Amino acid sequence: MRTHSAAATAATSFADAPTLHPTGKTAAETLSDLANANAWMSLLNVQADPTYRAFIDEILDELRPAIDQVDPGMCYRAGWIFVTSPNAVTPFHIDHEHNFILQIRGPKRLYVWPHDDRAVVSERALEKFHDAHSRELVTWDDGFRARARVFDLVPGMGGYMPSTTGHMVENGPEPSITISFTYYTDSTRANELLYRGNARLRRLGLRPQPIGASPTRDRIKHAVLATAFGAQSAVKRALGKGVRDTGVRYAPTP
Ligand SMILES: [Fe+2]
Repeated sequence: MRTHSAAATAATSFADAPTLHPTGKTAAETLSDLANANAWMSLLNVQADPTYRAFIDEILDELRPAIDQVDPGMCYRAGWIFVTSPNAVTPFHIDHEHNFILQIRGPKRLYVWPHDDRAVVSERALEKFHDAHSRELVTWDDGFRARARVFDLVPGMGGYMPSTTGHMVENGPEPSITISFTYYTDSTRANELLYRGNARLRRLGLRPQPIGASPTRDRIKHAVLATAFGAQSAVKRALGKGVRDTGVRYAPTP
């Protein structure tokens, strides 16, 4: 579970929002009076529950044939539920996962930026995100609003956000419930490797070419990196260290 209060803004650090703006309430207190709780709360990885896991599969299995045609290799499935008081904001941020977001209750305004808009999320921000799991360089500017695709969601409506697409959400004047169906694909995993590679090249003082500028160069780079990082992971496993495997069917649960 993750929470912050309605005092968080679009510009609040997504990582630090829970500590900068605590709700001061338990989950039960928030849920029992959501309209007055001034809280934003997310229940992460609900696929831990068999009922939700079956629901996530039902939705993603139906979508998969269409997704496979453009972005194959669906894996690492997960579900997130967002329970939000009136006018609370989800700060601007990016996530690793592809995300189909569906509004269940209340109105909500979703801002999504083109996944290749490097004025909003820079190459260096993506490198740091993939290499160090840090959103430190994913920072808000009010000028971003004019570049966004805006979805005014009401119950029954949804939106799609590709992996690492910048997004921000403003809740409406009523309590809101939203569910996200998330997953990785072959491209998610390949891009993660490519950005980790570029982060390392930059640390060596080089100026790597942007990912996506040349598919041929990316393919060659990916082949080299897959071998190098694969060997590194094999060594870690041999030493008994944990290695995150994003190729599994479901994202791991606590
Ligand atoms: Fe998100």
